[in-house]
Amino acid sequence: MALIKSNVGTSLELVASGKVRELYAIDSKSLLFVATDRISAYDVIMENGIPEKGVLLTLMTAHWFQYLQQQIPGLKTHFVSLSLPSSLPRDVAEQLKGRSMVVRKLKVFPLEAIVRGYITGSAWSSYKKTGEVNGKKMPEGLQESQEFPEPIYTPSTKAELGAHDENITTEQAEKVVGEKYAKQIEQLSLQVYKTARDYAREKGIIIADTKFEFGLDEETDEVVLIDEVLTPDSSRFWPKATYKVGQSQPSFDKQGLRDWLTENGLKGKDGVAMPDDVIEATRSKYLEAFKILTGKSLQESMQNLN
Ligand SMILES: Nc1ncnc2c1ncn2[C@@H]1O[C@H](COP(=O)(O)OP(=O)(O)O)[C@@H](O)[C@H]1O
Ligand SMILES: [Mg+2]
Repeated sequence: MALIKSNVGTSLELVASGKVRELYAIDSKSLLFVATDRISAYDVIMENGIPEKGVLLTLMTAHWFQYLQQQIPGLKTHFVSLSLPSSLPRDVAEQLKGRSMVVRKLKVFPLEAIVRGYITGSAWSSYKKTGEVNGKKMPEGLQESQEFPEPIYTPSTKAELGAHDENITTEQAEKVVGEKYAKQIEQLSLQVYKTARDYAREKGIIIADTKFEFGLDEETDEVVLIDEVLTPDSSRFWPKATYKVGQSQPSFDKQGLRDWLTENGLKGKDGVAMPDDVIEATRSKYLEAFKILTGKSLQESMQNLN
């Protein structure tokens, strides 16, 4: 059974909820960051969910935080722990186990820090029309799914629930968060992407593009990597084995769901329930990506939780 909405009774105070997650207060400095099994496509949430997806996203993010912190000395993340507060009633703890992360509560920068290593999706559409991506001229003659000579940073605004994010230029991003932070966010995003890209490529996955979010630790004035990172919800993952430039790629993410919505005229419509085969296909893609990237099955990783 998919968990569509967490149900914690009065044991925790809800502070925010997004398309996929519910954020609960733990104390003045920390939050319980809970991933449900909801899935969104084209910014709309489906009626039903993908069983265990929230656990998968949480454990994959934890895996990446650990790896990234080893590789990038000085990188700050919001991660505190995968352990639940001991005060939770047993049934609530059972429900939230594996899908929750204790994180530092931070001031979120209203930017989606998108990094693209390969040209696809909206970047490919825009390039075909104008030769530009996010207002910047790109090299001539790029083919669909081709790797950029260097990864590019293409920020977008972080829209409120129900609205759509908008691509902006790096200059506009500087206006939104201030020049100093904008530069740090760009530099960190590129560095984290490159580190993850190399790791994943070795394991057989191409991270075509991905989205990061950052927060500010107001006490130390540090820019901190937050939210989920490098999951199939926040990234495009392609199998390296079948990668071929000049065409679209099969992927480990929700592309199958997006295609099903488009083929059935349901793109962007509210109240859509996915049929079982779409749920199963999406779930198995996510599970496969998890295994390849973490080296463990989701089942094994869940067993390792205390
Ligand atoms: N450490 C943090 N402190 C405060 N807010 C956070 C932190 N990490 C992530 N968030 C916010 O929590 C929300 C995550 O919920 P999610 O369902 O993924 O939202 P969205 O619909 O915006 O993708 C996002 O709005 C994100 O900016
Ligand atoms: Mg999100």
